[in-house]
Amino acid sequence: MNTDKTSTPSRREFLQATGGLAAATMLSGIPIPLVHPGGDEMIQVALVGCGGRGGGAAVNALSTKSGPIKLVAMADAFEDRLKATFDNLTQAVGKNMDVPDDRKFLGFDAYKHAMDALKPGDVVILTTPPAFRWVHFTYAISKKLNVFMEKPVSVDGPGSRRMLKLAEEATAANLKVGVGLMSRHSKAMIELHDRIQHGELGEIILMRGYRMHEPAGFFQSLPKPDNISHMEYQIRRFHSFLWASGGCFNDFYIHHVDHLCWMKNAWPVSAQALGGRHYRQSPEGVTYVDQNLDTYSVEYTFSDGTKMYFDGRCMVGAKGIYSSYVQGSKGIAIAARANDCGGPSAIYKGHNTVGTPKWQSTDNSNPYQNEWDSLIEAIRHNKPYNEVKRGVEASLVSSMGRMAAHTGQEITFDQMLNCEHEFAPGLDTLTLQSDAPLMPGANGRYPVPMPGLNPNREF
Ligand SMILES: NC(=O)c1ccc[n+]([C@@H]2O[C@H](COP(=O)([O-])OP(=O)(O)OC[C@H]3O[C@@H](n4cnc5c(N)ncnc54)[C@H](O)[C@@H]3O)[C@@H](O)[C@H]2O)c1
Repeated sequence: MNTDKTSTPSRREFLQATGGLAAATMLSGIPIPLVHPGGDEMIQVALVGCGGRGGGAAVNALSTKSGPIKLVAMADAFEDRLKATFDNLTQAVGKNMDVPDDRKFLGFDAYKHAMDALKPGDVVILTTPPAFRWVHFTYAISKKLNVFMEKPVSVDGPGSRRMLKLAEEATAANLKVGVGLMSRHSKAMIELHDRIQHGELGEIILMRGYRMHEPAGFFQSLPKPDNISHMEYQIRRFHSFLWASGGCFNDFYIHHVDHLCWMKNAWPVSAQALGGRHYRQSPEGVTYVDQNLDTYSVEYTFSDGTKMYFDGRCMVGAKGIYSSYVQGSKGIAIAARANDCGGPSAIYKGHNTVGTPKWQSTDNSNPYQNEWDSLIEAIRHNKPYNEVKRGVEASLVSSMGRMAAHTGQEITFDQMLNCEHEFAPGLDTLTLQSDAPLMPGANGRYPVPMPGLNPNREF
């Protein structure tokens, strides 16, 4: 986590000490935009992607306590989504909103108008499906906006490389960027991480993550009805389509992958995986058209030879397990006891998670709120803050596991990073009227992974 607590003076203090705003356009020879609001200045926020998480992130943003903040613009591809979230937000945090109808924007280019309503140093929330992340982040950087973006931040090799470059540009422009991998802001997990670094588990030899439950979100999709375009159908059901979300693997499983790797302070170098689709038809006998497998089992290998296993399953009636574990030479830790990062985290002697733990976390603060408190604090006090590189790496490691399952091959981190298969070329020029990046074949179905038969591409 990049929450550098050095004693670097805040931008405001620096400006005062060096004799005023006009003079202070260079710091150590690097031009730095004069964009950061101080503690008492109003920060304006725009929301791009007004769905479930976008609404949640906006509530978190407007609940930060370090100074005045308000939501001033909203953008979504679809009117029903924007209206529902506007109504919910008005109920929850209406006093911190000033979003008249002429700052509500619809369509694929709505993001530009919403960001145009901000001034440099304000914050834009990017909570569309991840396919659009690089397009929206590019524009945010050009407008000198600080950013909160949801995970995953990329779904394929080309998008990941683009995001890494944008991350550097954002840092060079002194912008602050948070990524919604909220485990990193769980105080329980931060304490667990500290304890592991201090040797309480001994040497880490194995990590395990499980997210196994009934089909969730838009894990599966039936054929598109006639009254909706392919583009709209796929965007609305983005978990079903690899170009839009990286599929259920990236969207659902990234949190465990991310926080387990954090506990080891390393990303795995390769993955091999199993996966299959047992139930390809709905109870009515209609064939599903999404691109997901219903089971994934990935063995990740780190450069020191140690392993991380991740099991994901979306299946009715099968045993539900949704938790993560770190095993070391001296004991075992529960990282997430429930869900993506739910506590309490704990450390046990030996390798069973029964009996009284040696240590158990007591902090119950909300990681979703903590990540916003840290971002706004970094903005107001001009602290270095950019989580994008780490977000890309977590996204890549997720993609590496997914690709290993989808191709039936071992996939290395470098292969994934350098993979040339771009799932949705030209996303920045598509419109809602365009063909979708993935169009069906003559049988009305979209291409699906064919492990073994299609060893180089996921579809
Ligand atoms: N950190 C977490 O725990 C967490 C939880 C849920 C979702 N998420 C992430 O948040 C993102 C959104 O997920 P969600 O569950 O809110 O989905 P959602 O479908 O509820 O919301 C997405 C919104 O984006 C809009 N949209 C799609 N394409 C757009 C475009 N090009 N321009 C403008 N608007 C567009 C959709 O119409 C929709 O309103 C995903 O990346 C998801 O992985 C993170």
